[in-house]
Amino acid sequence: MALKITVIGTGYLGATHAAAMAELGFEVLGLDVVPEKIAMLTEGRVPMYEPGLEELLRRHTAGIEGATGRLRFTTSYEEAGEFGDIHFICVNTPQKHGEYACDMSYVNSAVESLAPHLRRPALVVGKSTVPVGSADLLAARLAELAPVGADAELAWNPEFLREGFAVQDTLHPDRIVVGVAGDRAEKLLREVYQTPIAEGSPFVVTDFPTAELVKVAANSFLATKISFINAMAEVCEAAGGDVVKLAEAIGYDERIGKKFLRAGIGFGGGCLPKDIRAFMARAGELGADQALTFLREVDSINMRRRGHMVELAREAVGGAFLGKRVAVLGATFKPDSDDVRDSPALNVAGQIQLQGAQVTVFDPKGMENARALFPTLAYAATAAEAAEGAHAVLHLTEWREFRELDPASLGEVVAERRILDGRNALDPDVWRDAGWTYRALGRPMA
Ligand code: UDX
Repeated sequence: MALKITVIGTGYLGATHAAAMAELGFEVLGLDVVPEKIAMLTEGRVPMYEPGLEELLRRHTAGIEGATGRLRFTTSYEEAGEFGDIHFICVNTPQKHGEYACDMSYVNSAVESLAPHLRRPALVVGKSTVPVGSADLLAARLAELAPVGADAELAWNPEFLREGFAVQDTLHPDRIVVGVAGDRAEKLLREVYQTPIAEGSPFVVTDFPTAELVKVAANSFLATKISFINAMAEVCEAAGGDVVKLAEAIGYDERIGKKFLRAGIGFGGGCLPKDIRAFMARAGELGADQALTFLREVDSINMRRRGHMVELAREAVGGAFLGKRVAVLGATFKPDSDDVRDSPALNVAGQIQLQGAQVTVFDPKGMENARALFPTLAYAATAAEAAEGAHAVLHLTEWREFRELDPASLGEVVAERRILDGRNALDPDVWRDAGWTYRALGRPMA
């Protein structure tokens, strides 16, 4: 009989995973403790913007016309426990308030709520990003609380999906990593992932701690790569070099590679910043803090970029923000997402506003979330409206729509033709030819 799967936590990770599992042919039950989320998903609506996800969800959600009906949702752990052979834990693990460490309360509560309903052999698979050592503790807790005892097994299967590419990354992962304690778990997970495995996705089997570490190691490497090129941007600025050319030139070396070498206002979002901090905190607990002191530098290079962008903007408008109008293009932490968590763009917008400028923000998808987080900023319905009367336009999230802006017509509405490119994504020649002063991080003035 085909495996029945539950997905616990239907945020970014869980909603995508649930829909993808249904797409792969399994019967899936998604669970969340927030009834509003479940109500939305049941109607085939996704609580966030993610290209392709709503279509995938609607293709499978029971009750939607023409859907396969393989995907259903619930708020009941009892129902999930009865239904599933495999339970994926996809709840979030945010940074603790006022601390670097990871807040495990949602993961703990998911396992503790599910376990008492496991009355037949089941595999619980953690996908959330957790401090190394968590899986061992959770496996013991699971066996202790489940009526079926040690037949409630645990595995760890980190998720590497990128926002904006979540559907593609979940259906066609570049690797599948599973931390297991025995053959049964490995066999079941091979069955779950048989389609991507057949397509060629590498399947890497490890122990628990390695699987947990793979995820934070990968994100630390990516964060380091971004901060490396941003550090080079700082040196380029001091030396009169061009970091975009530099990145292109070093990127031709296959060992270095071109990706993740875009200098700008740095990384943000719900993963990279908190993951590197939680990793440092955990290494400290393990007595291995020295190994990760470089991540402190990675973090501070990254945070410095935001301040530097503010300085560049202040300088551009003549040394003080008071009485100046600043247009901010972009609010999300990256394009093709509506996520504003730890967004460098909003952080810069907020700082400039606090220094006395009137800041107007436009983002193609992130307006609602941005408004909720920074209600005191002004928001416009289009890029052109945001730019009206502006003494400087700041390009802070590299949406395609902004690359396609016509500098000539935008030039008609601004007070001063001054653009600052915080993402090194616009074509300086095009803007300069239209009479704009173009400035970017890590690049020469003209
Ligand atoms: C990241 C990891 O890529 C993913 O594997 C993991 O599962 C979750 O965390 P995500 O947060 O969606 O994914 O975003 P990512 O595409 O990695 O970008 C992170 C941040 O880095 C963004 O703010 C982006 O603008 C910034 N970035 C990225 C740069 O500043 N320069 C780059 O060259 C690349």
